[in-house]
Amino acid sequence: MVLFAGDCISLLRSIPDNSIRLVVTSPPYNLGKSYERKGDFDKYLAWQDEVIGECIRVLHPQGSLCWQVGNYVHEGEIVPLDIALYSSFKRRGMKMRNRIIWHFEHGLHCTRRLSGRHETIMWFTKSDDYLFNLDAIRVPQKYPGKKHFKGPKAGQYSCNPLGKNPGDVWVIPNVKNNHVEKTIHPCQFPIELVERLVLSMTEPGDWVLDPFAGVGSALAAAARHGRRAVGAELDKEYAEIAKQRLLQANSGVLPVRAMGQPVYDPSRSGKSLTMQPWANSKTSAIGSQMVLLDSARAQYKVKK
Ligand SMILES: C[S@@+](CC[C@H](N)C(=O)[O-])C[C@H]1O[C@@H](n2cnc3c(N)ncnc32)[C@H](O)[C@@H]1O
Repeated sequence: MVLFAGDCISLLRSIPDNSIRLVVTSPPYNLGKSYERKGDFDKYLAWQDEVIGECIRVLHPQGSLCWQVGNYVHEGEIVPLDIALYSSFKRRGMKMRNRIIWHFEHGLHCTRRLSGRHETIMWFTKSDDYLFNLDAIRVPQKYPGKKHFKGPKAGQYSCNPLGKNPGDVWVIPNVKNNHVEKTIHPCQFPIELVERLVLSMTEPGDWVLDPFAGVGSALAAAARHGRRAVGAELDKEYAEIAKQRLLQANSGVLPVRAMGQPVYDPSRSGKSLTMQPWANSKTSAIGSQMVLLDSARAQYKVKK
């Protein structure tokens, strides 16, 4: 386990070529968050390009690189960073295998555009001969009792008993205040998001690298599954928390949200906050909300 409290470029330059089985990271987005300074977007892209070049150099020929990003936003205009950064990978011969949509339900409430509720993970490999263990991340089938109804397999179960491919849309809660993994970091990875990548794209003992380690969530995901982890984090306070979390992960006491746990639905758990105060005895809760919505929408009615 190696945690470098400093600039990722310095760490990357010390790593040998072709040695890392999985690079998984979420870089700063140039938004002016507490851990970054918003600067010229072209300079930001040039800096990302340099880091990406180094990550590709250290990547094992059968390895995977997962770059998790959202949007850069400037004066209300959004630039999806996966679109902006794609050429940095493609130009170096990397092959995209999936553009995974990570959907979550909490975040800023926008008023001049739709609220952002997804980010993406760009998954690239260095060659066509890459490691991918699908069985390690299968999820339960929707209809496990379904059988072939004709042909030579008629009567036999048609699904894979190990479960189905999880697909490329992943519904995983983001780490907000009531999440068991929450630290002081404003944008940490949920560990289960990285666990899927670690389990399917690496073997025990492989090296996993996160150049923008934050509070060490990706490194902890690797450690929890017997992989070796290396990362850099510029902010000393986050690096110290990452160190503590890695020690906890190694001794099996790191609080984590279990992989595959269903997303919590407050309306099904009888919470008083889910009852609509504007509902009355004559209308159902949903009915009365529709009345409110109808009167609000009246001003937008299409004129015939
Ligand atoms: C989006 S956050 C990553 C959070 C991380 N995925 C986690 O789960 O905690 C990006 C991180 O990169 C760090 N960072 C920014 N520039 C850096 C650099 N040049 N080298 C290393 N870390 C850097 C920031 O301090 C921030 O913690």
